[in-house]
Amino acid sequence: MNMIMSTGHTSNEPRLGRLQHVALTTTTPLDEVAEFYANWGLTPVATGGSGSSIAFRGQGSLNHAPHHIVRFSAGEHVGLGHIAFGASSRGAVDALHQRWSGSGVQIRSEPAQLDALGGGYGFDMADPEGRVLRVVTEMETADPVPAGAPLPLAITHVVLNTVDIDLLCAFYVNVLGFAVSDWSEHQMVFLRNGTDHHTIAFNQAPHASVNHIAYELGSVDHFLQSVGRMKSAGTDPLWGIGRHGPGNNAFAYYGDPAGFVPELTADVQQIDEPGWIPRVWQRIPSQSDLWHLAGPPSAAFRAAGAGSPDPNCHPPRWPPSPSNQP
Ligand SMILES: [Fe+2]
Repeated sequence: MNMIMSTGHTSNEPRLGRLQHVALTTTTPLDEVAEFYANWGLTPVATGGSGSSIAFRGQGSLNHAPHHIVRFSAGEHVGLGHIAFGASSRGAVDALHQRWSGSGVQIRSEPAQLDALGGGYGFDMADPEGRVLRVVTEMETADPVPAGAPLPLAITHVVLNTVDIDLLCAFYVNVLGFAVSDWSEHQMVFLRNGTDHHTIAFNQAPHASVNHIAYELGSVDHFLQSVGRMKSAGTDPLWGIGRHGPGNNAFAYYGDPAGFVPELTADVQQIDEPGWIPRVWQRIPSQSDLWHLAGPPSAAFRAAGAGSPDPNCHPPRWPPSPSNQP
């Protein structure tokens, strides 16, 4: 076992900023997806296109109101388009691009003004399994909705299935600057690039795919009201309600018609101690759910979270071979 226990970067180098949005592809008719996410509590955003994609914003908060938080595009398969992270300035975008280019990271596009929903200036790179990460600044923002409604604010984390958890963990920590918050045995690793306990987590699996995407509510009360809203719409969780040990967050996992698992969550543990020491949690019901309500993960949750192999991903390639070095 070779579990990385990094406590994070200490340098003043430019860092990835907050998670902005997730772009997904689906084979499901988009009107079915739109109906589900309207009940979920998201607000449609005009995509200005041909009807081949739909996008939604969250309520946002005063210091974090992305133009949109999730976008679904009609495609030939269910999979990840990209995950977008903010950067503090064009200079930070350029500096991250320069640093990663020099590290042999696969760069998918050079920094430029983006002709994409919400605009901005940024570039795309790929992780060792081919997932596209976008680094973007100066995207349009949404006006935050006045707090108070029990609706999702934004996406707080994405959990990804990987065939090589140690390799992906090493890349996200050593190259991208994430810090390890906790492990769940040698099965899941929780990585942060801000104060939220995890922004990205990896789950060891037979193939690469999206495991789930977590939408944050402003309080546990809003979380419970959202579970109730979904119940009124005829949809119960695949797993939950409960409160996870790692991350301490309330959870309820659902199956959407697009082929993904969205999670309602709240009260995510905040970590701002430079000396944080990761813990290895046991995979037992009492640590998976501190409320002792949820029981072990249901078969339906496990199946939906496994997803199908993402054709946009490939077997891990890292570190780069000497011939790939710039
Ligand atoms: Fe989660």
